[in-house]
Amino acid sequence: MHCNDDGPATLGLFSDSDLQQPARVEVLGPQSRVLRGFALPWVEALLPQLDAVLAAAPFRQMQTPGGFTMSVGLSSCGQLGWTTDRSGYRYSPIDPQSQRPWPALPKVFQELAEAAAEAAGFPGFAPDSCLINCYRPGAKMSLHQDKNERDYSAPIVSLSLGLPAIFLFGGRQRSDKSQRVALLHGDVVVWGGVDRLRYHGVLALKDGHHPLLGQQRINLTLRRAG
Ligand code: SIN
Ligand code: FE2
Repeated sequence: MHCNDDGPATLGLFSDSDLQQPARVEVLGPQSRVLRGFALPWVEALLPQLDAVLAAAPFRQMQTPGGFTMSVGLSSCGQLGWTTDRSGYRYSPIDPQSQRPWPALPKVFQELAEAAAEAAGFPGFAPDSCLINCYRPGAKMSLHQDKNERDYSAPIVSLSLGLPAIFLFGGRQRSDKSQRVALLHGDVVVWGGVDRLRYHGVLALKDGHHPLLGQQRINLTLRRAG
C-alpha cells in the first residue's frame, strides 16, 4: 500500500489511549470542521481495504495540464476517480493506467465518510469517489479549489493517515489569507455548504516515521462527483 516499502501496512492499529480521547471538534469556518481523531476507531478495518485498493490501482505520479509532474502520488476508488494529464483535470470511471474501472469504494470508507459528514452537520452524504493521495517527505499540494464535481451540494470529507502535515485552509479567493492546521493520523476535515469552494492545500511534508505507515502521509478525499 505504500508509495515506499518501509513500514508494516496492516499491523498495530489503535491503542486504548486513542479510544479514550474525547472527540474534539475544531471550527475552521461556518460549515467546516476538523474532527480530531475521528477515524482512529476505523483504522484497523480501513487499512486492509486500502491495501486491496492500492494493489489493484497503485499510486502513480500524474501530469498537470501545465506539464508539471505532481509530487503527490495518486490513486482512486469508487465509481469515479479524479485524474489529471496534459489535456486537463477530470473524473473518469476508468483508471487510465489499467484501462479498467477503478476499484469499488470499500464499505468502511463509505461508512466513515457518512459518519464524519453527519458529525460535521451534513447528514446523508453518499460519496461516489475517493481520491487517495500519497505524500512522501517534500511532497506538497498547492492551493486549489475542489471544483470538478458536478454539483457542490455535497461536502468534502478528507481523512489523514500516517505522518502529520500542515493543511492550509483559505477563503473563496486564492489571495485570501489561509489558516494553518496541523493534521494528524486519524483526523478528518469536512467542508461544505458556504465553505465548499474554499481554497486549500498542504505544505511540503516533513520527514519522519509513522509507526503504522512509515515515511509517508496518505490522505483519502471522499466526494460526490457525479
Ligand atoms: C487535496 O485537497 O486533494 C488533498 C488534501 C490533503 O491531502 O489533506
Ligand atoms: Fe482538494
